[in-house]
Amino acid sequence: MIALIKKVAGYLVSAGDVVALTGAGVSVESGIPPFRGKGGVWERFDPMEYASIQAFEKDPAKVWRVLLSELKRVVDKAEPNSAHKGLAKLEKIGILKTVITQNVDGLHQKAGNTDVIEIHGNFAWHRCMKCDHRTDTQSIKLDQIPPKCHCGGIFRPECVFFGEMIPLEAMWRSRQAASNCDIMLVMGTSANVQPAAYMPIIAKKSGAKIIEINTEATPLTENISDHILLGKAGEIMNLLITEIENCRQAELIID
Ligand code: OAD
Repeated sequence: MIALIKKVAGYLVSAGDVVALTGAGVSVESGIPPFRGKGGVWERFDPMEYASIQAFEKDPAKVWRVLLSELKRVVDKAEPNSAHKGLAKLEKIGILKTVITQNVDGLHQKAGNTDVIEIHGNFAWHRCMKCDHRTDTQSIKLDQIPPKCHCGGIFRPECVFFGEMIPLEAMWRSRQAASNCDIMLVMGTSANVQPAAYMPIIAKKSGAKIIEINTEATPLTENISDHILLGKAGEIMNLLITEIENCRQAELIID
């Protein structure tokens, strides 16, 4: 594993354009559960019953009571972990350009990344479905369910429900970033949901190296990824950052 960490760190130090595609696995170490697999959100809730736009429009109180209030409680208190902080550090030292994320928790921005494309929208902001008034999620009170705007309209999160379109600009920018990068870090995603799962394929077809970081293999591992670093995203990122710092120190000494 250490040999592979050194190899990947070397790739990252000499790359010109690195993009990360992240999924729920990067936020697991911040206490936010993933969607699939053991302990995943969809093990407890049927996504069609609680996370589709049809379900929300039919019975917003039910979706708020069961899924959204829990999500709000978890996201309100979550803090970036080493995976988020490592990606922010990679941007700060000029290695990483863009994060494409499927997550709605806002933790990449909280860690310090400045170019984050949120394919599935975000849970940091809510919008009144009647007057379009926008408010940050921290200010939403759960003393009435569903939470309501001063005009009486119901608040909905700015994230994408199943059955809704991916925001067009996010889609377009993700494709651009994927086709222009020379390394894509694919972190903590099961690569089951489109169009996000297609981004590493676009990157690969455009000549990029694909490096996965995940606790287990995914559908990309066999045919698309060049390497997989198996382990928790935060722990792997700490090892990578240490190795990158060593490479950069060595370069400075040689210079
Ligand atoms: P998933 O829950 O499908 O997958 C999480 C991935 O993270 C799995 O491959 C795990 O093996 C991996 N994982 C778990 N813990 C990890 C850790 N500590 N470090 C590294 N990897 C870890 O989440 P996504 O792929 O993000 O969409 O799911 C994609 C979309 O499906 C979500 O954005 C959501 C969901 O339905 C919507 O809600 C629209």
